[in-house]
Amino acid sequence: MQEEFEVLISEEELDKRISEMAEQLDKEYEGKTVHLLGILKGSVFFMCDLAKKMKSDVTMDFISVSSYGDGTVSSGIVRLNKDLDESIEGKNVIIVEDIVDSGRTLSYVRKLMEDRKPASLKIVTLLDKPDRRVVDCKVEMSGFVIPDKYIIGYGLDYAQKYRNLPYIAVIQ
Ligand code: IMP
Ligand code: MG
Repeated sequence: MQEEFEVLISEEELDKRISEMAEQLDKEYEGKTVHLLGILKGSVFFMCDLAKKMKSDVTMDFISVSSYGDGTVSSGIVRLNKDLDESIEGKNVIIVEDIVDSGRTLSYVRKLMEDRKPASLKIVTLLDKPDRRVVDCKVEMSGFVIPDKYIIGYGLDYAQKYRNLPYIAVIQ
């Protein structure tokens, strides 16, 4: 079945904002190696584009957690599916996320990573849906604040589909 959707953030808008974010991070981390930590799978598209635009030395690792089932309603439980490959002790870590919704995923991941003694830790998210926050969660940088609508594209899925859309759309 083909669901209907409407573009919320275009490819051009994403490109422009992600360039600004990369530039700001380069300033903040001048002369340092930045360890990008992506949360699979949603953040992959954003993380690749952000990393390509950054001029700082960048290393990368991934973690996989799940809090959503195959629908649009959160189960409320965060589960660690895949841990990092390398230690983050002493590194300048940026957790890269696609979207902060209830805040459960990021507050769980932040706590998990803080315990591992990085030199510094920041959260950068492409999207933020503040109206849906259930758990308080500190986010250092966000690309776009969006309304409480279920969105897809640019990494975000509906039942695992539409991640490869080059723009962000609202599913009707
Ligand atoms: P949270 O734990 O409720 O903050 O949600 C975290 C995860 O839910 C995100 O990393 C996304 O993978 C997923 N998610 C939240 N809102 C949406 C949405 O509107 N579309 C697709 N996935 C979403
Ligand atoms: Mg995600």
